[in-house]
Amino acid sequence: MKLKRWLAASAVVLATAAVAGTPATASHPVDPAQQSLRTLGLRHDLYIGTAVDMAALADTADPQYRATVSREFSTVTAENVMKWESLEPTRGTYNWAPADELIAFAKRNNQRVRGHVLVWQNQLPAWLTDGVNDGSIDAAELRQILRDHITTVVKHFKGKIWQWDVVNEAVSDPWDSPPTLHYKGFWAEHLGDGYIADAFRWARAADPGALLFYNDYNIEAFGSGDPADDKTQFVFDMAKALLRDGVPIDGIGSQGHLGTQYGNYDTFQVAAALKRFAGLGLATAFTEVDVRSQMTAGVQAGDSNEINPRLQASAGNYSVLLRACLADRHCLSFTVWGFTDKHSWVPTWFTDPPEGLATIYDENYQPKRAYQEMKADLIYSGRPYVLPRIPQKPRR
Ligand code: XIL
Repeated sequence: MKLKRWLAASAVVLATAAVAGTPATASHPVDPAQQSLRTLGLRHDLYIGTAVDMAALADTADPQYRATVSREFSTVTAENVMKWESLEPTRGTYNWAPADELIAFAKRNNQRVRGHVLVWQNQLPAWLTDGVNDGSIDAAELRQILRDHITTVVKHFKGKIWQWDVVNEAVSDPWDSPPTLHYKGFWAEHLGDGYIADAFRWARAADPGALLFYNDYNIEAFGSGDPADDKTQFVFDMAKALLRDGVPIDGIGSQGHLGTQYGNYDTFQVAAALKRFAGLGLATAFTEVDVRSQMTAGVQAGDSNEINPRLQASAGNYSVLLRACLADRHCLSFTVWGFTDKHSWVPTWFTDPPEGLATIYDENYQPKRAYQEMKADLIYSGRPYVLPRIPQKPRR
């Protein structure tokens, strides 16, 4: 090659590498395994995120938490501080400070923010649930309260939220009663299913620029195809009906809470589900990924015969979800629900039997197999099967 042409060609490669963060030429060696998840994700325009525990972020005795959030992630989600009980513990009095702090942190670190969560049956303030239970808040007032909450919260954060989880976990599971899948929980019981469409419309009116998501667990792959027992099918049918009715829903968030004791899925099953949602014109995202394991006596005693298969199975499941996301250009972000076992909701929530080991770093911030496999997936993927993301536009 003539020198001039060679220079021009390598300039292009170097420029691309600067954006993508990948090795360019032998004269410009970069070890991709030394790069962060966020840098590697941007090769595919894929945002890699984590839930953030604001107490851990503020803890000066735990500087690695903060350093890791800014180094490894390009999007953040409030683990708790945007939930209703945190934002409005007393009726009419909003506590914005912790959530505003996260937004400011994200801005300083050039991170996008997923808003979590507007409508959910959990972590509601007592004034609201007590008022409904004792009859002092009737259905008409409850609907107005929900409308005001969504409007106030979305307006407060207007322009600062990339994706809102508008409605969370509205659909039952086969182990609930009755076992036929249905809309479950506080909101459906008191307002009927119509609250879902209302919530999306109210959120859109308050911030026309944010992407509006429905978010749920156990919707990673399709099952029987019968909405009576296949939650993914139920949610798919719900999304289709909302779109038919002109409801401004932009995406489906698949939480991705898995456990190594279950059968789980292969990459193709998960990719197929994401592609079917994309076929409706929706974006997708993994929003709360973690892969927990049972903490048997052997695990707790440090028996490597019991620990190794769990860590490897966990890594394998992270990889399945990430590769499926890479495979579909409408899968915009991949968020883990905490990144270190030092700060994970799993041990406090799954106690019988005890579970843990769910995140990608151990309690001492040492990266696990799962972290390395995520990196490898981001590094060793590209054309022709993995293409850059297609940004979603908020539906009018
Ligand atoms: C969890 C938090 O991680 C815990 O700290 C809190 O005590 C309970 O909620 N699905 C969701 C998340 O949508 O909001 C939940 O977060 C985990 C399950």
